[in-house]
Order: sequence, then C-alpha cells, then structure tokens
Amino acid sequence: MTSTARYDEAADLYIAEVGEKVTDGGTAGLLDLAGQVDGLDILDVACGHGRITRELARRGARPTGVDLSATLVERARKQEAAEPLGIEYHVGDAAEVVGSFDMVVCNFGLSDIDDLDGMLDGTVGALRPGGALVFSILHPCFPGWGSGRSSSWAPQTGYHTEGWWRSEAASSKIRQAVGANHRTLSTYLNALVDHGLIVDRLAEPLPPPHWLDADPARGTVPIFLVVRARRPRP
Ligand SMILES: C[S@@+](CC[C@H](N)C(=O)[O-])C[C@H]1O[C@@H](n2cnc3c(N)ncnc32)[C@H](O)[C@@H]1O
Repeated sequence: MTSTARYDEAADLYIAEVGEKVTDGGTAGLLDLAGQVDGLDILDVACGHGRITRELARRGARPTGVDLSATLVERARKQEAAEPLGIEYHVGDAAEVVGSFDMVVCNFGLSDIDDLDGMLDGTVGALRPGGALVFSILHPCFPGWGSGRSSSWAPQTGYHTEGWWRSEAASSKIRQAVGANHRTLSTYLNALVDHGLIVDRLAEPLPPPHWLDADPARGTVPIFLVVRARRPRP
C-alpha cells in the first residue's frame, strides 16, 4: 500500500497547534505507560516534528524517529541541530522500519497511518523479544463534544463504518486538513492479537484540567486510549 504524506501541507498548522506540549491526556498517558525509559533503544513511529522523541531523549532513552512527512522530519532535524540530544530522524513509512529496539512508541499516529497491518508488521519486526509497543490514539469511541469537536467516526456513517474521512467541524482544523482513518476498538485490539502481541496495559486518560475547566462535561466521555502491548519472548 502506498501512503500519502498529508502532513507535508499541514506541517505549520500541526506544529502551531501542538508545539512542544506533552501534557495532553493521551501523550502524558503514553509517557506514563512507557515507564522508565532510561537506556532504552526506542523507535518513535510517526514522530512528526519530534516532540515525543525529544521528551524520550530527555528522559534518558536513545530514541530514533521515523515519519512519512519529509517536512516534519526536517523540522525535527532543525530542532536537533539547535538542541542536540543525539536523535536520528528518518523519512519513511511505518511499514518499512528497520532496526532493533526495546520499545516502539506511536503517539497519535495510528489514525494517520493508512496501513495498520503494515505498521504492525514493521513494529513486530523491529521489536526485540519482550519489547513493548506503546501507542496513544483519540479513543475510537470518542463521541465528540457537541458540534465543535468531531467524533472519532464520520457522523454521516457512524461508528461501525471504518475508513478514511475528513472532519468538517470548525475546531478540528488538523482533521479538516489531513483527515483520519477511523477503526473500531475491536479492529485495533484484534490487530494486535493477530500480530502476536500481548496487551499488558490499557489506559483511558481524562483530558487535562484546563480542558475540563472550560466544560466539565468533557470528562464524561472516553477521549484518549493508550495501549501497551508486548512481543512475547520465545
Ligand atoms: C498526529 S501526527 C503525530 C506526530 C507525533 N507523534 C506527535 O505526537 O506530535 C501523525 C503523524 O503520522 C505521520 N504518518 C502518517 N502516515 C505515516 C506512515 N505510513 N508512516 C510514518 N508516519 C506516518 C504523519 O506524517 C504525522 O506526522
């Protein structure tokens, strides 16, 4: 399957929106489930401009970043030149990763990756036995927040219809620009099982407090899903 680097066009928008922040519930949850990373070789798949890759390096890991978007990887390399942390970045498809790692992380990347099976083939090939894949996604069951923030699925077709779609919600600017692949919760979990991975921890973090201050009802629905799954030892 050929993947499209949709973020090349949306790089400025994406960086302006997320910047260096690692405190949203999903990202903080991923770092939490990654745990103690000191001394680990970690592959950050769909690393974007490298905000998680850098955070992992600051926590003592030896991370490598890979992303389909040459524009975002260029931004990550620029940041590495300005603040050297020993990180290597590659432009590439998640399905074609090479190397051998203690951990693979993927922060909010899976709904942008068109070929989930390819990504998991690549991940399993790159993970050392006993190593973990840790990923965060917008919860596949997120129903949206009124008309301002889209559900995980296309409202016209509903939760059970999978596939790529583009949001029309005013406050989902990134999803308007790059769209998203919707998959059901069972598709994600079954894909892990089909690739021989063993889920050992799940988290469904709440949004950060300032999101809840704006509207406490935001804390009443699932919004983030974080999963840790291990490649078993022989
Ligand atoms: C929402 S951004 C997340 C970036 C970064 N992980 C972060 O948390 O800021 C999703 C990223 O997935 C990347 N992506 C999409 N398809 C990909 C693929 N097949 N292989 C590698 N990266 C991919 C995009 O280029 C984009 O940088």
